[in-house]
Amino acid sequence: MRMYDIIKKKRDGFELSKEEIEFFIKGYVDGSIPDYQVSALLMAIYFNKMNKEETLFLTNAMKNSGETIDLSDIKGIKVDKHSTGGVGDKTTIALLPLVCSCGLISAKMSGRGLGHTGGTIDKLESIAGFNTNVEIDEFINSVNKIGVCLSGQSKEVAIADKKIYALRDVTATVDNISLIASSIMSKKLASGTDKIVLDVKTGDGAFMKNIEDAVELAKEMVDIGNGSCVETVAIVSDMNEPLGFAVGNSLEVMEAIDTLKGKGPKDLEELCKVLGAHMLLLGGVEKDYDEGYKKIEQAIKSGSAISKLKEFIKNQGGNENVVDDYSLFPKSKYIFELKSKKSGFVSKIKAEEIGVSAMMLGAGRGQKEDVIDLSVGIVLNKKIGDFIDEGQLLARIHYNDEEKFKSAVDKIEKAFEFSETQVESKKLIYTVIK
Ligand code: URA
Repeated sequence: MRMYDIIKKKRDGFELSKEEIEFFIKGYVDGSIPDYQVSALLMAIYFNKMNKEETLFLTNAMKNSGETIDLSDIKGIKVDKHSTGGVGDKTTIALLPLVCSCGLISAKMSGRGLGHTGGTIDKLESIAGFNTNVEIDEFINSVNKIGVCLSGQSKEVAIADKKIYALRDVTATVDNISLIASSIMSKKLASGTDKIVLDVKTGDGAFMKNIEDAVELAKEMVDIGNGSCVETVAIVSDMNEPLGFAVGNSLEVMEAIDTLKGKGPKDLEELCKVLGAHMLLLGGVEKDYDEGYKKIEQAIKSGSAISKLKEFIKNQGGNENVVDDYSLFPKSKYIFELKSKKSGFVSKIKAEEIGVSAMMLGAGRGQKEDVIDLSVGIVLNKKIGDFIDEGQLLARIHYNDEEKFKSAVDKIEKAFEFSETQVESKKLIYTVIK
């Protein structure tokens, strides 16, 4: 078999066989197939797409390229939650202790941010001492002891995906349904979970810009999960504006904590309730969605969710006092108050532009080796549909570096659009795919 023939076949619009897909994955991992040939194949896949069967073969080949984690020593049904990536998406940080306080096992492996989307692991590192690199035995013990543990993805899981994702990121081949579905599902299936709830984002700040593509991606991933005996449900949710108000690592963790105190932004709280209710249902904690939803609400009201968060932070070596004292979080030197130059209803907040601006301030990595600044970011003061008067506060920009601030501030201002007439706020949940 030759990589050249595989590239040509896909370039000409033909279907690849299981053997051809396995050949290219194996060859890329062992170094016998170079980056430039894989880049060419990725571009051919991008334009000519893969059918469901090819996507399944690719998922399994990537899953089998690394180790498969055995979590069978964890007692109970493990339900994972995964987002396809968005701006201001701090849901996992609130959701994990929340569902755990309702009786669900929460054993999750998360990733770091890249590009304009943030990552849970980076965010949690803004809690002093919090260990995001938990060895597997300790991971299992923690879940059995307190019901929840979160760790960075093991380097050995889905090795092919790590190499291919890095290549896609620099060859403009990220936003392809088969490539995203196989990338996410290969990691999830290798990480030992029993069931999965997916949060598939759609809109300006998501990889899938329109709902039709997001639904197709959701269906593809649900089929892969269910076809692999890992029951999977996908929620398609809005990412046309950032989720909540805060974008940037420590700022987002504070907002997630506020949500567990019942003082969070409405959209984030609602998303936690919807995803949480589906997780409780899949995990067998509740038999009815509405009951699950109410249980989640109750866990916030009663304070059991916030207590679980403290236990979770402490168990992973973090300083749990951050929950009551936000001054313990990394703080930026400067805060700029961005005032509106117009009056009107906010009609758009371009989420991707806000994500890129936060990255430019230092909250994300432009390149894989970049060290991120946990204190910087943007806190919006208005959401789509809100009215603002000229001169009123639009957003606060938290920064440390004058040059970085100068390069981002215009972009942030231009991310907002206004309308003279009333604008409907965006629908948060579009559909659920089972
Ligand atoms: N997240 C992933 O893990 N992979 C993708 O391709 C996109 C988002």
